[in-house]
Amino acid sequence: MPFSWNDQPRPIVALSPMADMTDSPFCRVAKRFGAKIVFREMVSAEAIVRGSAKTLRMAAFHPEERPMVQQIFGKDPSVMAEAARIVHETHQPDAIDINMGCPVYKITSDFNGAALMKEPERAEEIVRQVAASVPVPVSVKIRLGWSDPDEAKDFAPRLEQAGAALLTVHGRTKAQGYSGVSDWARIGEVAKRVHIPLLANGDIHRPEQAVEALRISGADGVLVARGALGNPWRMAQMEEILRSGEVRTVIDEATRRRTILEHFDLMAEEHGEAQAAVLMRKHLAWYYKGAHGAKELRGRLVRIASRAELVAALDLVYFGQESSPVPA
Ligand SMILES: Cc1cc2nc3c(=O)[nH]c(=O)nc-3n(C[C@H](O)[C@H](O)[C@H](O)COP(=O)(O)O)c2cc1C
Repeated sequence: MPFSWNDQPRPIVALSPMADMTDSPFCRVAKRFGAKIVFREMVSAEAIVRGSAKTLRMAAFHPEERPMVQQIFGKDPSVMAEAARIVHETHQPDAIDINMGCPVYKITSDFNGAALMKEPERAEEIVRQVAASVPVPVSVKIRLGWSDPDEAKDFAPRLEQAGAALLTVHGRTKAQGYSGVSDWARIGEVAKRVHIPLLANGDIHRPEQAVEALRISGADGVLVARGALGNPWRMAQMEEILRSGEVRTVIDEATRRRTILEHFDLMAEEHGEAQAAVLMRKHLAWYYKGAHGAKELRGRLVRIASRAELVAALDLVYFGQESSPVPA
């Protein structure tokens, strides 16, 4: 059955795209805990159309990630359409998402990401052409506006008209960056202006916040970003609280440790052990963010160069003492 946003049980809880984080290994770990839908990190449409094998490879995925949404970014409608076509032809993701929310200067200075909110005609044309180029649903991720938090109220219906099948709204403006708080009530005002499903995003980090964000916004679901870093079980916990009123998945130290090693092994499967150690460091910092007395441990984790070093560092937390290095 082809993927359709309308067919997804409500509320939808999905993993938000994060550059350098929501790659295949992380999405696989999240899926194993029960995440229903994952958005993979953005890839450059320009690079794909230019023939960059490295960029196209970033959109490769494992079947266990399905349904998987691949996000693309760019500013030229025909380049975006061609990139979507190539990505779909090569990897067959279940859906395509267009980034119109990224506030990073490197992206917006070239009129990509959130800068498209200042150019509604161009944005519409991108949606129209991308939707015509692939046989799967095309969604768009936006912010409340560039500088005015009411911009999305007019912008969103235009994207719907152009063929968007779903919208995600991060409840901040581009000007806000990550300051202030995500305005879930304003997201709700945008949701009322469209007939397609809409996901609320921003500051939905803990399970209770998913309940609250949905109550306030009336959205069809939530997209979770930073709350899932170091917590690949977060989407599953949100599903639980939304469906039964309580969180059942409780993470003890043994589960955290097992998950980290599984994450490392999936990373190594894709990149080899040495590169996996480097790529895992940023995730390891998140896995132990805020943990009691973890400062020294985190210092060690961000320097690991092999699986054995990871095991030794984790043993320090788990057993309170170092074991002899375990062969990889
Ligand atoms: C490290 C990082 C990378 C991100 N990369 C992307 C991206 O590739 N595409 C995108 O649309 N948003 C990206 N975002 C934004 C998030 O998807 C999300 O909209 C934002 O962090 C707010 O949600 P949160 O409060 O749940 O983190 C990124 C955010 C972070 C923290």
